[in-house]
Formats: sequence, structure tokens, C-alpha cells
Amino acid sequence: MKLGKRPRRLRKNKNIRNLIKETNLNISDMIYPLFVVNGENIYREIPAMPEVYQMSIDNILKEVEELIGLGIKGIILFGIPEYKDEIGSCAWQNDGVVQKTVRKIKNKYPDFLVITDLCLCQYTSHGHCGLVEDGDIRNDLTLDKLSKIAISHANAGVDMVAPSDMMDGRVEKIRNDLDKNGYKNVAIMSYSAKYHSGFYGPFRNAAHSAPEEGDRSTYQMDSANKNEALKEIKLDINEGADIVMVKPALSYLDIINEVKNNYKIPLAAYNVSGEYAMVKAASKKGWLDEKRVALEILTSIKRAGAEIIISYWAKDSAKWLKYGEK
Ligand code: PBG
Repeated sequence: MKLGKRPRRLRKNKNIRNLIKETNLNISDMIYPLFVVNGENIYREIPAMPEVYQMSIDNILKEVEELIGLGIKGIILFGIPEYKDEIGSCAWQNDGVVQKTVRKIKNKYPDFLVITDLCLCQYTSHGHCGLVEDGDIRNDLTLDKLSKIAISHANAGVDMVAPSDMMDGRVEKIRNDLDKNGYKNVAIMSYSAKYHSGFYGPFRNAAHSAPEEGDRSTYQMDSANKNEALKEIKLDINEGADIVMVKPALSYLDIINEVKNNYKIPLAAYNVSGEYAMVKAASKKGWLDEKRVALEILTSIKRAGAEIIISYWAKDSAKWLKYGEK
């Protein structure tokens, strides 16, 4: 055997392996999703997402305190409104559940990063991410509503809004309207390449946001497409997105990598509910080691090129990375 052809030399023990580790997960890379509901003292586990809870505002505040203690730097917040209607009007109320929560968190923990998901689907009676007229999604009418939601979140003190609706032109509209209203410092993390995916199943059950009729294939992307993702990313960068996102993550690592190689902009990936649920289910049966597999998945997302990972495992990861072996 020739000299230098023994890669196993660098796998000899843990210290050497750690020294040459190319990808290190950090808790500061991760964002934890939270679901807020109206009411008090609510802490309701989501059926297909074990250990993920819908919480009322009082419990969200306790949760945030715990997250800060664990070293988690930020959350993305989803609201479950009191009622739904055709146009999703609960989404932009000043005293809506998300707006109230943001105000309270920022009041108590001004440095803690709060991102809000910006969409209509949890708020509309038909469950679509856009307004529906005569059976069609009305793109441009939806933009006005999204902008109203963004302004109401900004007014509550949010650091960053994350539009997840996949309407055309929404980043530009939101950026312009935030600026016009004096919210130049509110950032936009755009769900730029959001695929039409079966992996959102458990989330829809958590957020009560499944469409009543039809599906989201006229606005979310076909999972077969890669060039289209690059086009969507480019459009969002041109429209003023500060951070772009690929979603889901696990079946789209090639997309994450392609975006990383083509654009020099902070890149987020959303490790979605279905990716979490399938590991949870298998580990409950004793078929997979949850910690090991979760860390492997999260590392692969980072290795593919995402700097920011949104994950239901963020909280567990904080504990695993702190106390566990690297
Ligand atoms: C809302 C939204 C969804 C997710 C995030 N924002 C659901 C969807 O588009 O149907 C999915 C998150 C997850 O599955 O964890 N538009």
C-alpha cells in the first residue's frame, strides 16, 4: 500500500475525529417552531408530533424562558386563531394571538429572536394560503392581505417575518410596505423554494390548515423540479429577501446544495413535521435510535449548505449537543 493511503489514521480516536470534523452543528444555527393558541394554561400535545405542543401565551412565555436557558436563540411562531373566515381576517388583527404573543415575548426578552410565519392558511375557512374566488387562488389580492399581516407583526415588534404562502411577488410587496410604514429593520426570511410535499401532513393537523378542497399544487413547487427552485430563489433575492429557505429539507438536500453553490445569501432549511414524525414513530417502536438519527439528519442538512435549520428537534438538540458526545 502506498504512503498516505490510510484514511483510517484520522479515525483512530474521538479527539482526532473531532479535529477533522467538517460539519459541526451548533445550537445557534437552529430555530425552534412554536404553536400558539388562545386561552390560558393550554399545553396540548400534537397527535402526529410527539413532544410538540400547542400552547397558550402564558405557557409560551415559560417555554421561551426555558429555551433561553438551553441556549436556543430564536423561534418561529405559528398562530391558531379564534375563528376562520373566507379572507383570513384574524391574521392581521392587532390583538390577534400571534401579535399578542410577539408583544409579550419581546417585552420580556427583547434580545430573543422572534420570527413569525406569515400565511393565510391557518386563518381561512377554505384552508388555502391565498384568497379564493370562483375556485381560483387570487395571487395579487392575496398580496395586500400578506402585507397587512406583515405590518401587524412588525407593529408587535417581530424581528423577522417569514412568508410561507408561495404567492408570486410577495417579498417585494411586503418589503415595500414594511419600509413605507417605518419598519425598515424588520427582516424577511422567505420560504422561497417551498415544495408541494406530503411531509407537511402532521403540521396541518397541528395548525388546522389543510385545504378543504383541492391542494396546494398551483402555488407550491413540484418536487421533481430543481431549476425552478433556483428561479424562485433568484426572484426572492431580487425582491429583497434577507434570508432564503428551502423546504422540506431531507428529501431536498440536493436543492439546498445547489442554492448554496449558486447564491451567496444566508440559507435556511425547514426540517418539517413529517421528517420529525417518521423518526419519532420508528423510535417509539424501537426501530431507530432517535437521537442518533436526528443528529445525523440535522448534520446532513448543514453539510448540504444550510446555515439556519428550523427544526422540532432544536430543543432536544440543545440538550444533546450540550451533554452528549459530539
Ligand atoms: C403554512 C406552513 C406550512 C408549514 C409551514 N408553514 C404548511 C403547508 O404549507 O401546508 C409546514 C411546516 C411543517 O410541516 O413542519 N403555509
